[in-house]
Amino acid sequence: MARGKFIVGTNFKMNGSKAFLGDLVESLNRADLDINVEIFISPPSVYIDHVRQILRKDIAVGGQNCFYKSSGTYTGEMSAGMLKDVNAEYVILGHTERRTLFKESDTEIGLKVEHALAAGLKVIACIGETLSERESGTTFHVLFRQLQAIVEHVQDWTDVVIAYEPVWAIGTGRVATPEQAQKVHAAIRRRLKETVSESVGERMRIIYGGSVNLGNARDLAKEKDVDGLFVGGASLRPEFVEICNVLR
Ligand code: G3P
Repeated sequence: MARGKFIVGTNFKMNGSKAFLGDLVESLNRADLDINVEIFISPPSVYIDHVRQILRKDIAVGGQNCFYKSSGTYTGEMSAGMLKDVNAEYVILGHTERRTLFKESDTEIGLKVEHALAAGLKVIACIGETLSERESGTTFHVLFRQLQAIVEHVQDWTDVVIAYEPVWAIGTGRVATPEQAQKVHAAIRRRLKETVSESVGERMRIIYGGSVNLGNARDLAKEKDVDGLFVGGASLRPEFVEICNVLR
């Protein structure tokens, strides 16, 4: 069963400025990019509209978060509909920084995924274990708990991509080995087959994030269940263009 294109996505987090992103967009606009790779970039929300207007159309733009209500008295929040309104295609949900710094629960993330899909966004649903969870042997327990909260809120999986982001690899320079990533991705796929359906598990694109750079991208991308790369720090550097062409 076809899984769709390999994905390379960014999460700029709270970085950049209008000028910086303008330069970055210009370099992407000029680049010779592999048409076999689907690319999305996720600037801070205040820049999404601007970036969408200046960026080439074969690269999608995404948000880094949204709330699970459509409108109302929620100061500081933004809805999935608002992201759609400025032509965002994707939204990242459940990133570990949202889970830990902003105390988002599994249930809240499930609700956000449901809301975003209903609004017509594609969702990058993130899951990942901390170092102490890995070391205490609870990696799969944690990942499956996070996954289950998402499973309970999704009917149609067409627009969902799962991002495996081990917390210990995010921003640390300590990337998961290709074998570690493959083992977890295969387990997530198996779990989806068991808890949702054979075809959803088989078709799900599961992307890896956590200290991806040009030096490790190729080896990670070779793994059978690694269907894409999710890039933080390196997406702000010129090497990002080469990461996008990792399959060449
Ligand atoms: O969402 C991607 C991100 O968390 C990975 O960050 O800087 O380790 O590539 P980084």
